[in-house]
Amino acid sequence: MNHLEPHIIVIFGASGDLTKRKLIPALYDLYLQNLLPEKFFIVGVGRTELSDVGFREKMAGWLPNDSASADKIESFLQTTSYVSIDTGNADDYHILKDKLNELRAVADMPENYIYYLATPPVLYEKIAQGLTLAGINKDVEDESWKRIIIEKPFGVDYQSAKDLNKKLMCYFKEAQIYRIDHYLGKETVQNILVMRFANGIFEPLWNRNYVHHVEITSSEDLGIGGRGGYYDKAGALRDMVQNHLLQLVGIVAMEPPIHAESKAIRNEMLKVMQSLRPIKEEEVPQFVIRGQYTGATLKGEHLPGYREEEGVTPESRTETYVAMKFFIDNWRWNGVPFYIRTGKRLPTKVTEIVIHFKKSPHHIFAYQHQSINTHNQLVIRVQPDEGLLFKFGMKVPGTGFNVQTANMDFHYSEVQDMKITSAYERLLLDCMQGDSTLYIRGDAVEEAWAFVQPILDAWKNHPDIPVYGYPAGTWGPANADSLIEEPEITWRYPCKNLSNDGEYCEL
Ligand code: BG6
Repeated sequence: MNHLEPHIIVIFGASGDLTKRKLIPALYDLYLQNLLPEKFFIVGVGRTELSDVGFREKMAGWLPNDSASADKIESFLQTTSYVSIDTGNADDYHILKDKLNELRAVADMPENYIYYLATPPVLYEKIAQGLTLAGINKDVEDESWKRIIIEKPFGVDYQSAKDLNKKLMCYFKEAQIYRIDHYLGKETVQNILVMRFANGIFEPLWNRNYVHHVEITSSEDLGIGGRGGYYDKAGALRDMVQNHLLQLVGIVAMEPPIHAESKAIRNEMLKVMQSLRPIKEEEVPQFVIRGQYTGATLKGEHLPGYREEEGVTPESRTETYVAMKFFIDNWRWNGVPFYIRTGKRLPTKVTEIVIHFKKSPHHIFAYQHQSINTHNQLVIRVQPDEGLLFKFGMKVPGTGFNVQTANMDFHYSEVQDMKITSAYERLLLDCMQGDSTLYIRGDAVEEAWAFVQPILDAWKNHPDIPVYGYPAGTWGPANADSLIEEPEITWRYPCKNLSNDGEYCEL
């Protein structure tokens, strides 16, 4: 076992999809690695009537189903129990409190609780209030602690995020609130900090003197699946850009923190969010392109268009794709464009950050200037095939001085014994240790919303701003190319458009 303090994790929304797909598997993996404390319980909370046994049976179906794991699963499940309450009813929280007291009494544990809110956001305030009324929200100095993890979406716009922060702060202190963005839990995202600040060679180049532009892509090949009801109200800007992509921007663009602790790193993250140059409402068509996937046939299979998906209104103008250009107004990044894009039903699932360096100032080799590849590129592959790729020009063997692009390529998968832990495992463990470095602070979340708010306003107030259609399996609307004004520069395509026979290849 390990040094973690004994505690109970209470999962609100215990029957939900997140609990099933991410939380229970992550907790089970931590259990297998002996990373959970000796005295530890999981309490599922939901409205559905279920016994502890019923809940355990349900969870067993979410874990590996092989005989080798049976004993482990059985002992893991012994740490779990279930409480059925109406989370909207403040009186019900005494039932939860009694359950927690009962478990603590058996194991002789302090009142250390993590509350994980894997529920619809409308319940966040109610739950915080219910826990407060039941008297199970406060840290007791030197005796016990309470932490609350809030899932995204954290608000639906600037005002609602501000309101939510304010409401939560009536019940919990900022230091107790853990706003999760699972992108920060990804190993490769954290590695950006190590790469930048543990090596001497990158940081001198990491600025407007040497960087031509920065490009971030987070593409998904899947559509919206069964999440039409949520997604149609959210769209890609709220679902991916406001949180995941802006967090990546923060990590790539931040100044060196004075040390690697929570406050210092989160201060630097805030400064990046504060330095994002606002895109004014009237500038939105020039700087932001939105799109929506339309039906297409790939590998003989018909993929429905967004408007045909379940839970989506047939005339929906919700964006499933966003590409944008913006600037960071500070000393380091002055004048360096940042291009970011994300979308559903693109050719492949990939998240990568590309630092495009400036060309050499004077070209002495005849064929060098003809190729965009003479911009050196550092590609940080966040997922899949996590690693780093550096593209540079080298001489083609033979006569003359022809230059072609070559790769220096690092893949995590090639390093033996290096298992990449899931983002949820890492983040849960951090919260258990009281480390909030990879969680978003309230001020930073508000700044991120302040940046996207004029875009939301423009789309709402000017319905004539186009939503470009793009066939499923392509790289989104061609109009996104117009964001990049220099004719010789294009987005990097990690793979080509899927053709009708579904084939694509690396570029
Ligand atoms: C979630 C979004 O936050 O992130 C989803 O709600 C998206 O729409 C997902 O698919 C992407 O996460 P990952 O880790 O699969 O890139």
